[in-house]
Amino acid sequence: MEFTFSVFILLLASLSLVLGQDAAFWNNQARDSIQKALERELNIGEAKNIIFFLGDGMSVPTVTAARIRQGQLKGETGEENILAWETFPHVGLIKTYNTDAQVPDSAGTATAFFSGIKTKSGVVGIDDRVEYADCESGVGGEVDSVLVNAHNIGKATGVISTARITHATPAATYAHVAKRGWEVDTEMIEDGEDGKGCKDIALQLIEDNSFIKVILGGGRRMFYNNTELDPEDPSDRGNRTDGRNLIEEWQEGKANAYYVWNKEQFDAIDEDTTDYLFGLFEDSHMRYASESEEGNDPSLASMTEKAIKMLQKEEKGFFLAVEGGRIDHAHHAGNAYNALGDAIAMSDAVAMALEMTSDSDTLIVVTADHAHTMSIGGYPDRGNKILGLAGYFGSDDLPFTTLGYLNGPGAEEVRQSYSDTGMRPNLTEIDTEDKDYLQQAIVPLSSESHGGDDVAIYATGPMAHLFHGVQEQSYIAHVMRNAGCYDETDTMNACLNLNSASSNIPSALRVSLMALLSAMITYFF
Ligand SMILES: *[C@@H]1O[C@H](CO)[C@@H](O)[C@H](O)[C@H]1NC(C)=O
Ligand SMILES: *[C@@H]1O[C@H](CO)[C@@H](O)[C@H](O)[C@H]1NC(C)=O
Ligand SMILES: *[C@@H]1O[C@H](CO)[C@@H](O)[C@H](O)[C@H]1NC(C)=O
Ligand SMILES: [Zn+2]
Repeated sequence: MEFTFSVFILLLASLSLVLGQDAAFWNNQARDSIQKALERELNIGEAKNIIFFLGDGMSVPTVTAARIRQGQLKGETGEENILAWETFPHVGLIKTYNTDAQVPDSAGTATAFFSGIKTKSGVVGIDDRVEYADCESGVGGEVDSVLVNAHNIGKATGVISTARITHATPAATYAHVAKRGWEVDTEMIEDGEDGKGCKDIALQLIEDNSFIKVILGGGRRMFYNNTELDPEDPSDRGNRTDGRNLIEEWQEGKANAYYVWNKEQFDAIDEDTTDYLFGLFEDSHMRYASESEEGNDPSLASMTEKAIKMLQKEEKGFFLAVEGGRIDHAHHAGNAYNALGDAIAMSDAVAMALEMTSDSDTLIVVTADHAHTMSIGGYPDRGNKILGLAGYFGSDDLPFTTLGYLNGPGAEEVRQSYSDTGMRPNLTEIDTEDKDYLQQAIVPLSSESHGGDDVAIYATGPMAHLFHGVQEQSYIAHVMRNAGCYDETDTMNACLNLNSASSNIPSALRVSLMALLSAMITYFF
């Protein structure tokens, strides 16, 4: 009885699988997608708010694998799943090279997408005239980020990262340094560059950019002296040697300004009565999403939520940069589990932002700074576990995983196994879905390298359609400036041209008029 019942259920399941994928299914699916594409109207309004999401190292294979992983965690086959930004109407490809590097680093790339100019690998917020790690060579070459542009016209601003807030990507929203490693004074002293008139990144954040309303991330140790102990883990100390406590300095002279360093304090913040929020949740980088509870760290989605609530108090609108900073670190470690986990956490943060804002006045952009060497292969069946084995054997009669890296720490065990047994490690009884598993790789490197392939950019909201085709990474900042009307002297500014062409018609009305016009066109023709 029980047997026939399970057979019946099995039959039913396979039948629905077949029915679910017959010609009618795909034809209907395509009809819906075409209908949506035909109904799409260009949003040519002004972006009152801009939220820029950056998945550090979130290559296209990372997005695909994270999409499948998220679906499988929900109990589905996975391939059909969509991440939050995969509903966005506009997509393009971004060329990520630095002015001196075919495969880029995160400092050069962040300068490109935040400031609109490409520069050398390892450089933050200074144009290509600068020599890497030479303080004086960069003087005069400093370039402003879109966050600073937004502030200059009265927008509220915020920056969030799961990496250290002084790390390359977030630093490019506010700092200018010839070497990304100058996060703290001690590093500049070690390089003999201290006293040449340049400031470390942490100091630039506190002294030159105290207008930023929301600053959330990791990297506490860059902000206080190395004679002081870390509040969470007294085995850690500060990294400064100038005796300054930049957290206290940040708070001085600000009303309704709060500093928090753990999740409880963060959760207790009332956004209505808080005007400035500074959160540093770890001594160094924040935890991976899979470990954030152990670390007492808030999630990327909850940081995004609190930031939006605070910034929405500004009538003129806001600019917010959010980095999923550790997708990159997991890849460097050769660990796909956490790379996908942190990409999914970023999808949750994007979903939160979509829920809290309107497409009519908020431009949301999602992209990556550069790729990694992880690839997806081996003809696994539909619904095969994305972190699992591909399902057949290599010509060495050994199984292999669907995900693998070209280089990195995963190659170490492979090399060891060759030297011990003359073969790759036998994965037959290994749990490749374990959170600490490192995918096999070919070239041994202590840190897996970035990839040089293009990354995708996804956008929704005002002027999102300007993100199209294959573009240089520096293009991104210019589109955001255009969409937000940040630069009134920029003659390329489509948003301003649009404003002058339609003189004093408010943007909301303009959008409605355009909608009416296109509806009339559709009706009459
Ligand atoms: C910074 O602090 C960490 C943790 O306390 C320590 O391991 C590291 O050596 C320090 N680095 C510098 C340059 O002081
Ligand atoms: C900061 O640290 C340096 C190096 O350890 C030490 O010489 C100095 O006295 C400290 N300054 C303060 C104010 O504690
Ligand atoms: C791999 O391990 C499995 C199970 O332990 C074993 O049956 C198989 O023979 C091994 N494959 C090779 C090529 O050694
Ligand atoms: Zn990296």
